[in-house]
Formats: sequence, structure tokens, C-alpha cells
Amino acid sequence: MSSIQVRPFRRSDRQQLTDLVNAHAMAVMPGLGASVATVLGQLEREPGEFIVDPWVSERVTLVAEQHDRVAAAAHLLRYGTGERVGALYRGAGEIRWLLFWPEGPALGNPYWSDATDAADALIAACIRQFSDWGVTSQGAGGELPVPGVYGVPEQWPHVAALYERAGFVHDGHTEAVYLVRVADLPRPGEPPVAGLSVRRSVGLNGTRLSALLGEEAIGYIEVEVRGEGERLPRNAGLADVGNLRVAAAYQRRRVATWLLGHAADWLRLAQIDRLLDYAWLEPDEDGTGQGYAGYRAFLDAAGFTVLTRTRRGWTRKQH
Ligand SMILES: CC(C)(COP(=O)(O)OP(=O)(O)OC[C@H]1O[C@@H](n2cnc3c(N)ncnc32)[C@H](O)[C@@H]1OP(=O)(O)O)[C@@H](O)C(=O)NCCC(=O)NCCS
Repeated sequence: MSSIQVRPFRRSDRQQLTDLVNAHAMAVMPGLGASVATVLGQLEREPGEFIVDPWVSERVTLVAEQHDRVAAAAHLLRYGTGERVGALYRGAGEIRWLLFWPEGPALGNPYWSDATDAADALIAACIRQFSDWGVTSQGAGGELPVPGVYGVPEQWPHVAALYERAGFVHDGHTEAVYLVRVADLPRPGEPPVAGLSVRRSVGLNGTRLSALLGEEAIGYIEVEVRGEGERLPRNAGLADVGNLRVAAAYQRRRVATWLLGHAADWLRLAQIDRLLDYAWLEPDEDGTGQGYAGYRAFLDAAGFTVLTRTRRGWTRKQH
């Protein structure tokens, strides 16, 4: 009899599931993870995804148990078919994430094996679930409830290989996730353009600091403190850049550097010591005409380092 059993998630799996989530998160983001409450919360709802999440009509979490251990787990979404659901999502099925323990001891311990077989059984069950739902498209990713962890990061080759074995292909884009220590960012110094002042306001993705020339905003940065329903202080001290723009006429005059310096001063007051950012790598352009090469050069110049390259947008053609 097979020692692998695929079944719906039960509350008593919550600690093992959280361990699996955090092992994957921490291979990507240093020291970041989620509490049990945050992991369970994501299974029910994702309030941060305020556009797309209300379109979800069903959520299912499956685990593959091997020798009484949660060896693999997956969270599946089914999107509704109604008018208000965005066209690309209508009727779609998505593996929000699928995780498993890739390593077993090298010297065969008969009681402890790697979880590859369990993961294969699990993804087969995910695809059966899609077919029971009659979904119009099948997508996959790795969107964990942890800042900076989404898509299939390069630190998860076992997940990429599993997706490929099951017939998924990566036909989306690749992004880089950047991190800098706030202590390593420079102070703002003198305004790089005479008469420039800074104003703080409520932005779209975090607190906005605008560079004002008279009443004209010639650039702005938004920084958002990331804590997302976290009950443990694990992700304390982390923010990300929500937006950063400088008007074309003022570029390459150190306005963005100066704004980043002001944002860093603000984050120091908030006792935030790390700052995340994101940029597209491949293709360089995100479909809105926004190219990222200049932005990546800016992040390099500002002292950010690349933590991961992550592939978003995996799909499986149905036969
Ligand atoms: C990217 C952007 C914010 C940079 O603003 P900026 O005020 O021109 O940047 P700075 O003058 O402070 O640049 C500091 C350093 O970063 C690097 N850098 C900035 N822009 C660069 C570019 N387009 N190409 C190459 N290097 C660049 C350079 O090393 C530069 O120093 P240097 O001019 O002495 O060589 C600005 O070009 C912009 O708003 N672009 C469009 C929007 C965008 O890409 N937003 C990011 C995604 S949300």
C-alpha cells in the first residue's frame, strides 16, 4: 500500500504547513516568514489582493501526507465566471502555490524520504481538481503570504521541475527582487535642483514623498511598511518601494537619489531597517511601455542587491 495520501488540509496540519511555507520563504528572503495565523488567513482570503481576490469563487488546500508527515501542500483557486470578473481570470483555475520538501537524507533512512513522489501525487490531484471544476485555463505560481515571495523563485528548482513535469510552461515574465539595508542608504543632502522641497502625503502604495518645485511635483517615491497581518514581529523592520518616478525633464539630476535619501530618513524614524524593491528583467518592458533597464541601473547605483529572480506566469495547456 502506498505511504502517500493526498487529502484536504486539516487544521491540525497548520504547524507543519507553516514550517513548509517558511522553509521556502527563507530560502528567498533573509529571515522572513509568516505566522500560523497568517498562513491560515491566506487560505481563507487575501485582502491585500483587493482587485483579484473578490473574483475567487472557491479555494481548496490539499496536502500530501507521507509517513504521517505533511510532505507537500498546494493551495488552489477557482475564479468565478460572472461579468465583474476580469476577462483573463474568468473561469480560470490557479495553483496559488505548491510546496514540498526537496531533500531527504543522502544515506537512505528508510523512515525519511524526499517528497518528490508525494509532490507528483499532489499535482496530479490539483489537475484533477481543475478538471472537476471545468476551468477555462490552468495557471500556477508561488504566491506566499510573505513579502517578496511570489512566482517561482530561482531558489525553488524542485517546484519549477515539478510544474514542468506536470505540463506547465513558464510563458510569463521574470522579475528581480532587490533588498537594501536602510543604514546603507545615503542621507538626502542638499536638494539636487535649486528650490526643491519634499512633501509627505498618502500615496497609492504607501506613504508618498514628493519632490516639489513650487507647487509642481517633479518626482515622488512611495514606501510601504510591510507587516501584513503578522502576529509575530518576524517581518518587523521591512518596507518596500511602492512607486518611484521622476519627470523626464528632471531625470539624471539625482532627484530619485535625493528622494530615496528622504525615504530612508523617514524609515529610520519608523525603525525600519530593510527596504525591498522589484523590477522586471525579462522581457524588459511590462506591456504598459514601461522599460526597466534604467530603473535596474538606478537600484544598482543606490546599493540594492538582487535577492532572487522569480518567474511569474506559468500555464498548462489542456488536452
Ligand atoms: C528610474 C528613475 C526613477 C531614476 O530617477 P533619476 O532622478 O533620474 O535618478 P538619479 O539621477 O538619482 O540616478 C542616480 C544614478 O542611478 C543610475 N541611473 C539612473 N537612471 C538611469 C538610467 N536611465 N540609465 C542608467 N543608469 C541610470 C545612474 O548611475 C545615476 O547616476 P549618474 O546619473 O551619476 O550616472 C527615473 O528615470 C524614472 O522615473 N523612470 C521612469 C519610471 C520608472 O522606471 N519607475 C520605476 C518602476 S515603478
